[in-house]
Amino acid sequence: MNVLIQGGGRGIGLALARRALAAGAERLVITARQPEASPAHAELAADPRITFLAMDITDDAGIRAACAAMRDILPRLDRVICTSGILREGEIRPEKRIADIDAEALVRLYRVNALGPMLLARELWPLLKGDHALRFSAISARVGSISDNRLGGWYAYRASKAALNQLMRTLSIELARANPNACVATLHPGTVDTDLSKPFQGGVPADKLFSADDSAGRMWAVLDGLTPQDSGTLFAYDGSVIPY
Ligand SMILES: NC(=O)c1ccc[n+]([C@@H]2O[C@H](COP(=O)([O-])OP(=O)(O)OC[C@H]3O[C@@H](n4cnc5c(N)ncnc54)[C@H](OP(=O)(O)O)[C@@H]3O)[C@@H](O)[C@H]2O)c1
Repeated sequence: MNVLIQGGGRGIGLALARRALAAGAERLVITARQPEASPAHAELAADPRITFLAMDITDDAGIRAACAAMRDILPRLDRVICTSGILREGEIRPEKRIADIDAEALVRLYRVNALGPMLLARELWPLLKGDHALRFSAISARVGSISDNRLGGWYAYRASKAALNQLMRTLSIELARANPNACVATLHPGTVDTDLSKPFQGGVPADKLFSADDSAGRMWAVLDGLTPQDSGTLFAYDGSVIPY
């Protein structure tokens, strides 16, 4: 099995990289913005199955270069998991009210949280098409569900994840024609103890806060159980379908 974990340098992505190795991946590509400085590199660099590549998901030229390197070393990809996501960055904070709306922040979260899997699919198409049992996934979030939105707030994050779900749904339809055994899915990891959630863990009961390894194990099992008929769907960590 050849696996790509985009954003595998830390957090849930690193836990998914560990899971891929435990599952017997023959080749594993881990991307991060600064792979040599990442916790994944410190932990896993000695493993000969792993290739680390630098990739900023907002840098189209860098994505093209990293994907060209992957096309050189891999005949196909069996599992792709895109994990990049931000809720805060620099001065950007999740909006509590309409007065907090900032156009640049809305666009920034869209670029980091929604676009990555499409840019990767475009560049990695030769490794995705065929008839192998490809699982092409991205980490979304329950708060990206439009029908589930009862609390409001977090405009940019919610909208970027809803856009990610729609982009992945659209990809699922095209990829079904290029690879009838492919399944495209977005995944909700639960509330997971990482840098992203740290400032927002206050009201989360201890039994509702997963470790990254626990969440990764559950999502990996969900991917194991998917079939092409499930393509274009948002799944929670327990395998339940979250309506868009
Ligand atoms: N933690 C939760 O409770 C929770 C809940 C729902 C959904 N999620 C989603 O889960 C995913 C992983 O988040 P996490 O909890 O593991 O958070 P994290 O530890 O903060 O990791 C964020 C990841 O996003 C990557 N990233 C950020 N900006 C990027 C950019 N411009 N280009 C490429 N990669 C970039 C980071 O890569 P670098 O190492 O290069 O910085 C890192 O791998 C996100 O999509 C997040 O929205 C998390």
